[in-house]
Amino acid sequence: MILKTKTVNCDILIIGGGMAGCGAAYEAGYWGRNLNIVVVEKAQIERSGAVAMGLSAINCYMGMRWNENTPEDFVRYTRNDLMGLVREDLEFDIARHVDSTVHLFEEWGLPIIYDQQTGRYKREGKWQILIHGESYKPIVAEAATKAASKIYNRIMITHLLTDETYPGRIAGAVGFHVREGTFYVFRAKAVIVASGGGTHIYRPRSVGEGAGRTWYAPWSTGSAYALIIGVGAEMTQMENKLVVTRFKDGYGPVGAWFLALKAVATNAYGEAYEMKYLKDQRALYGNYVDSKPFPTCLRNDAMLREIKAGRHPIYIHTERVLDTREKEELGHEDFLDMTMSQTIVWASQNIDPKKTPSELQTSEPYIMGSHATCSGAWASGPQDLSPKEYFWGYNRMTTVEGLFGAGDTIGGSAHKFSSGSFTEGRLAAKAAVAYVAERPAMPEVSEKTVADLKTEIFQPLENFSLGRNLIVKGTVSPSYLYADQFVIRLEKLMDEYVGGWGPMYTTNEILLNRGLELLTMLKDDLAHVAAEDLHQLQRAWELHHRVMTAEAVLRHTIFRKETRWPGYCYRADFPKLDDEHWHVFVNSKLDRATGNWQLFTRPCLQLVT
Ligand code: FAD
Ligand code: ADX
Repeated sequence: MILKTKTVNCDILIIGGGMAGCGAAYEAGYWGRNLNIVVVEKAQIERSGAVAMGLSAINCYMGMRWNENTPEDFVRYTRNDLMGLVREDLEFDIARHVDSTVHLFEEWGLPIIYDQQTGRYKREGKWQILIHGESYKPIVAEAATKAASKIYNRIMITHLLTDETYPGRIAGAVGFHVREGTFYVFRAKAVIVASGGGTHIYRPRSVGEGAGRTWYAPWSTGSAYALIIGVGAEMTQMENKLVVTRFKDGYGPVGAWFLALKAVATNAYGEAYEMKYLKDQRALYGNYVDSKPFPTCLRNDAMLREIKAGRHPIYIHTERVLDTREKEELGHEDFLDMTMSQTIVWASQNIDPKKTPSELQTSEPYIMGSHATCSGAWASGPQDLSPKEYFWGYNRMTTVEGLFGAGDTIGGSAHKFSSGSFTEGRLAAKAAVAYVAERPAMPEVSEKTVADLKTEIFQPLENFSLGRNLIVKGTVSPSYLYADQFVIRLEKLMDEYVGGWGPMYTTNEILLNRGLELLTMLKDDLAHVAAEDLHQLQRAWELHHRVMTAEAVLRHTIFRKETRWPGYCYRADFPKLDDEHWHVFVNSKLDRATGNWQLFTRPCLQLVT
């Protein structure tokens, strides 16, 4: 099969046109007016990424113009919620800029709900504001489209390129058009990776035809992590996987219900359980238990204790709070704006939220850098805030020169959400513009490197055309595996050995080491993935990215010998939180030449008292 190659030269390449990618395009367009700024997106940026469906709240807004919160307050909040471990420079940097992002969204037409009494934005909670957000993504994407030199939709990036003579510097990326198969080579002086978080790495709760329904977007396939790990970027907190409490089956988010509507959760027998285990939790996890608000992972922990004791289902009592028309509208709009499937579950299961409570359930683990966890790249902070341990020249630059990240890509800074991710894109882009101004030469990439990658990328199509006549029956073949068969194997392995929902998020060293053996065997089989068309080819590369992300998660989980975030992951062999030895970041680096992983720690410095 002969597929065309197209080469695009640009100054700044932004990979992923989600919230962070759109923020990066907007800001790069502002500071780098004369630069060629290209966005490449595997879907269509108007409706791509985790915000594709819309959102009903902006979860990160300080309200500094009304003296509601300060950046210092935000750092304290995120530090407590993450059981002590955040990069305070990065958190502060988001907090001091995020309000200006939200004001831009409003200027561009996003309807933000006002509190008629105070004249301020209506709060969902201390950090969250309410929006009519079904069209959030198209509004943000329009601004990015106007700012960028060009948007390339429907191109999946599979690999990053580095400079031929100096592999420590980024040089661009390659991928393919998922509809017409053209092989794309993007050569760039700086690259900003903003390709979202990781789902379907762990076995989802949903099964069969519903398996595509997860809380975080199923098209967030770990690309952000795999791409940058592949070129040797240092990673942090990959063991900090996210488990979210959600409405059962539809994965409806809980924020609006708990915070704005003040709904209460109880066990099957009507008992409020959240604060029931404080004594036990304090003995295991120390003073973090007394943080206000109660840390997200500990709320999960309390719920899991109830479930282990057999006192489930856990209910959220929607029927006790929908007592006015306004509240009823808020409750329904919450899901209609961002998780329609939950309203469909209500309809299909005869649940009227005004009359009947809904069941809550903890999700499968996700890998994310923007929500209540912070896996991702180890990145430089801003010059004016960051101590020398956290600063190496350009804000949000990874340890690979010229390679920047934002949103789910960047580790150590949780609770950015949609607005903070866009803000981080802006911060990364401003720094990338400065980087390009100071290093205007285009890095070198050889024709051989590109040709080898082209062969590798399209190999799954070859595997199919060579092996298709040896089918045993249906889709069972002695010579190849399809990506969807493979992903089930990956999810099962991660669930059973690396603390998925099956064993109640619990693992130990023996399980983890066996998991690593199995993952190594699974990796051997990656060479036999087959794709019968371009859609399946995309699935094949999404699988590659998921596997790479999974390996990072597994290795980090082995390395951290404590239970830092109960409710997200339990090390049964080290059930306590151990601040004396583990109040540090766990970081890793893949050696591209040898394929060996190096794991080590970095200090966690307190900058805000
Ligand atoms: P994304 O916005 O997901 O963007 C990643 C982009 O990269 C996507 O467009 C994707 O298609 C693209 N991409 C991925 N891989 C590749 C590749 N290999 N090549 C090219 N392109 C690629 N936040 C709030 O503020 N308030 C809320 O109420 C809220 N609720 C949420 C509810 C749900 C159901 C979900 C799923 C998320 C919610 N969030 C909320 C979180 C918010 O959506 C994320 O924090 C934010 O979108 C992260 O931004 P990002 O740019 O890192 O990732
Ligand atoms: S969402 O991103 O999918 O909307 P979710 O609805 O759980 O997630 O959370 C929205 C916001 O509310 C997040 O900032 C989360 O930390 C916060 N939140 C959710 N439940 C609670 C709770 N019970 N107490 C405090 N904060 C909460």
